[in-house]
Amino acid sequence: MSINAMTIANRAVLVTGANRGIGHALVQEALRRGATRVHAGARQTLTTLDDRIAPLTLDVTDAAQVQTAAENVATLDLLINNAGLGFHDDITNRAVLERHLAVNLFGTFGVTQAFLPLLTRSHGAIVNVLSISASAPLRDVPAYSIAKAAAFNLTQSLRALLAGRGVRVHAVVTGPVDTEMTRGLNVPKASPQSVAQAIFDGVENGAEDIFADPVSVAVATSRRTSTAKARERGSAA
Ligand SMILES: NC(=O)c1ccc[n+]([C@@H]2O[C@H](COP(=O)([O-])OP(=O)(O)OC[C@H]3O[C@@H](n4cnc5c(N)ncnc54)[C@H](OP(=O)(O)O)[C@@H]3O)[C@@H](O)[C@H]2O)c1
Repeated sequence: MSINAMTIANRAVLVTGANRGIGHALVQEALRRGATRVHAGARQTLTTLDDRIAPLTLDVTDAAQVQTAAENVATLDLLINNAGLGFHDDITNRAVLERHLAVNLFGTFGVTQAFLPLLTRSHGAIVNVLSISASAPLRDVPAYSIAKAAAFNLTQSLRALLAGRGVRVHAVVTGPVDTEMTRGLNVPKASPQSVAQAIFDGVENGAEDIFADPVSVAVATSRRTSTAKARERGSAA
């Protein structure tokens, strides 16, 4: 499915978790595509010599910090909820689940609500960085998978609710990416740069769900094929 497209040139973009990994690559790619301002949210305020980057102290679980950040941004076209937390667990510890939900679900929710007035004014867009684990839980990271599944549902609900206000909402689905989060995971991984490019391509092409790496593209293709076959069987019955 597609929604209205947005070019990145001359836009104001905000990226959470901008200090490393995919977030850092998103900041660089936004600048490469001509964004005029990139608000770089990070728990430790970034230092930069590039005056197009506006560092923003932003722990997405800290409501007061989120509010202050929103008060310090004048205009915004694109919010990228990238900050995320994921580590191994065995789904025995409630506190571990709550930590994952605090960042991946409630962090995304809180930042979105805080910046929604600016996005409504600009008829802007929201990008939520999710994971293939949102629809197919991974055995070693169940708390992460639950949190990403909830964030995926939040994304779909917001997409429906905000369409009437002219705000587009994109979901990013990706498999393993070569960042700190997957250090020690011995599988083929996409580069953060290639994922950042795929995310902005998706926004610029108006893709609702953005499949940002070869693994997520393969999973999506196989699901589409299975659905089509099931429909064929249904209509033949
Ligand atoms: N790597 C993968 O294979 C993969 C696959 C699918 C989806 N993703 C998603 O991609 C996004 C980026 O992850 P990554 O791969 O780039 O991992 P990463 O290198 O571990 O980066 C995670 C980022 O999130 C930030 N963060 C964590 N908790 C935060 C909080 N409370 N407030 C603000 N920022 C916070 C981190 O900041 P600090 O430096 O302060 O900790 C860091 O900037 C995440 O949403 C992740 O779930 C990653």
